[in-house]
Amino acid sequence: MDRAHIAQYLGLHPWADKILVYDEVGSTNTLLKSLGQQGAPHGTVVIADHQTAGRGRLGRRFQSPGGVGIYLSALIRLQCVPSQIMHLTCAVAVAMCDAVEAACGIRPGIKWINDLVIGTKKLGGILTELTLDPVTQQVDSAIIGIGINCRQLEEDFDPSIRHLATSLRLATRKDVDSSRLAGEMIRSLHRMSQELLTQKDATMTRYNRDCITIGKQIQVIRGESIRPGQALGIDSDGGLIVSYSDGTCETVSSGEVSVRGMYGYV
Ligand code: BTN
Repeated sequence: MDRAHIAQYLGLHPWADKILVYDEVGSTNTLLKSLGQQGAPHGTVVIADHQTAGRGRLGRRFQSPGGVGIYLSALIRLQCVPSQIMHLTCAVAVAMCDAVEAACGIRPGIKWINDLVIGTKKLGGILTELTLDPVTQQVDSAIIGIGINCRQLEEDFDPSIRHLATSLRLATRKDVDSSRLAGEMIRSLHRMSQELLTQKDATMTRYNRDCITIGKQIQVIRGESIRPGQALGIDSDGGLIVSYSDGTCETVSSGEVSVRGMYGYV
């Protein structure tokens, strides 16, 4: 994948001249955060072929081997308070479903809150990180990171995640044009950034449609505690509404819990 190919797919796009492509980085999110602190503009995109320290939600590692995936981060500058963009990860997830569908003809589902899935397996993940102005506590920028498995065959996944993971190649039985997919991801992220503050309800309606967690029996995992429940829906900020067998209900936030299916990953 190279910058020229991606730019070719984007044509005269406002972010086309702000794409940085690397062979290897620690984490595209970490690199872009530091570029942001040095003044990188809205719409700067970092793409790497390989990450040595890819990061996932809740401090987890994200395996990011070379030659098989897309690891992409975008910086958006926003003027708002954090409570206005609680749904950011949801908006990115819907945008990435759009991008994968446009480039590869298959629409992933979303496992709450930030996993892209095909069938019962994980195709990719999203990590969004906000930088706040230390004085006003307003949002200064958001770093949006996405990792998508493109070309892996089953044996390419580490044995620890083989039963949980899939790739676009496995799902479509076709080779993936990574430059085209990266172009569609950038196009979708740009559109999402324009609609983020004005189209919240419509975005969450779309998220609900794509989210495969709703209606499922799940396990709510909070540190060492695992509690079985049923996912009833998603609130307007992306919180997951869960009911328990004792008749109680709660809305859980993505910063504190993860969920998995009762009998497997979804
Ligand atoms: C998750 O599965 O919990 C989220 C994974 C997010 C991975 C992407 S890859 C590009 C960007 N850089 C990172 O270090 N993480 C994100």
